[in-house]
Amino acid sequence: PMKIATIGGGSSYTPELVEGFINRYDELPIKELWLVDIEEGKEKLETVGNLAKRMFKKANLPVEVHLTFDRRKALKDADFVTTQFRVGLLDARAKDERIPLKYGVLGQETNGPGGLFKGLRTIPVILEIVSEMQELCPDAWLVNFTNPAGMVTEAVLRHSDFRKVVGLCNVPIGMEMGIAKLLDVEHSRVRIDFAGLNHMIYGLDIYVDGESVKDEVIELMTDPDNTNFVKNIEGQEWEPAFIRSLNALPCPYHNYYYKRPETLKKTMESAEKEGTRAEVVQRLEKDLFELYKDENLNIRPPQLQERGGAYYSDAAVRLITSIYNDKGDIQPVNTMNNGAIASIPNDSAVEVSSIITKDGPKPITVGDIPIAARGLVQQIKSFERIASEAAVEGSYDKAVLALTINPLVSSDVLAKQIVDEMLEAHKDYLPKF
Ligand code: NAD
Ligand code: G6P
Ligand code: MN
Ligand code: MN
Repeated sequence: PMKIATIGGGSSYTPELVEGFINRYDELPIKELWLVDIEEGKEKLETVGNLAKRMFKKANLPVEVHLTFDRRKALKDADFVTTQFRVGLLDARAKDERIPLKYGVLGQETNGPGGLFKGLRTIPVILEIVSEMQELCPDAWLVNFTNPAGMVTEAVLRHSDFRKVVGLCNVPIGMEMGIAKLLDVEHSRVRIDFAGLNHMIYGLDIYVDGESVKDEVIELMTDPDNTNFVKNIEGQEWEPAFIRSLNALPCPYHNYYYKRPETLKKTMESAEKEGTRAEVVQRLEKDLFELYKDENLNIRPPQLQERGGAYYSDAAVRLITSIYNDKGDIQPVNTMNNGAIASIPNDSAVEVSSIITKDGPKPITVGDIPIAARGLVQQIKSFERIASEAAVEGSYDKAVLALTINPLVSSDVLAKQIVDEMLEAHKDYLPKF
């Protein structure tokens, strides 16, 4: 009987995941879903857990939902483990987003100082989880969604001997859906050759029914009369000369690097007006959980799409299904590079289109990232590597080094000041420092 354990089970994304399991039950006959959380998440866990039970019941599926604070019990003999937890909860994210702004630096959950500190808080916990998995469910795959997903995958690959890890992000699937909408074709007909890192991923080629449409897409993206494009693909308003010569599709997170002052200004303005994203999400969550509590609700409510992780279930469950059924289809995931991208170390995590088999993802060899993007990708990889070492060693010096080499922070002095203030702000969740 197949058992899934989901750590951070009280997340508002859990109904997404459950919807994914329901939609693919034919291919993935799960018997038990164990939702694990911590005491602080008790209320969320119960609300979400009860909704999950109602959803499976409505779908007429004999899936048992277990709610627990006992992670070891949930991991015991699990077939797949998914992680979607947030160390320090949204209050910690709000600090990650607010503190850097005081220094004129972007505050964001996965980039710059916020990404560094989310990583420092998360990595020790993920390393505990994989060590428990080696003991309690050594054959299980870990599908990690917890951010910063690239740095977290890097930490598992380089600082443990656990190999059955896949990092997952919904950005690539979102890019495919954006292209499908732009070209007005079904999502299933679109394929993108993805390569790069988590939140630093590029579409190197774009296909519809196997035929490249990259030139057409770039033309549409750069046509000044095509207002349709801007409406359809959010955050992709690039200078035509830039995008034509880059000749690849950037992801929305590239705005932080290729439009640094503009996105910083926007982030500051919205923090002022409506609060940082964490603060907005805190309000959104309140509303969502009110909906979830309704005993008559037995589907994933459409309002969940207002969260950035939309379509996560599709990404997570199609990945698990493909591993389980040894499908050999192509999906973009975070996995060990193993030479897929020539200019990235072999043992590092990359986010690339991969063939998904029962033995996990086999990354498709890209050759290399185009020269225009290569330097930035390498720089962010260096940041992720040093940041994950800082997390494992509790190294203050490496935390300052990581932030100094991060392109969003322009000086060592500034990096040190930000690290100092953030270490203090997050000290309850940073036992190694
Ligand atoms: P959330 O704040 O709702 O946290 C999820 C749950 O984790 C909460 O119920 C919380 O109590 C629990 N939790 C906290 N610490 C825990 C621990 N040590 N062990 C077990 N549970 C713990 O978060 P969310 O907004 O639902 O996001 C969850 C995670 O998913 C975050 O890390 C977020 O960054 C990530 N995320 C990733 C992507 C992606 O593309 N990879 C997209 C969206 C969200
Ligand atoms: C995107 C990203 C996630 C990110 C999320 C934030 O989908 O892929 O990695 O964390 O959005 O969403 P939120 O609703 O929490 O701001
Ligand atoms: Mn992501
Ligand atoms: Mn720098």
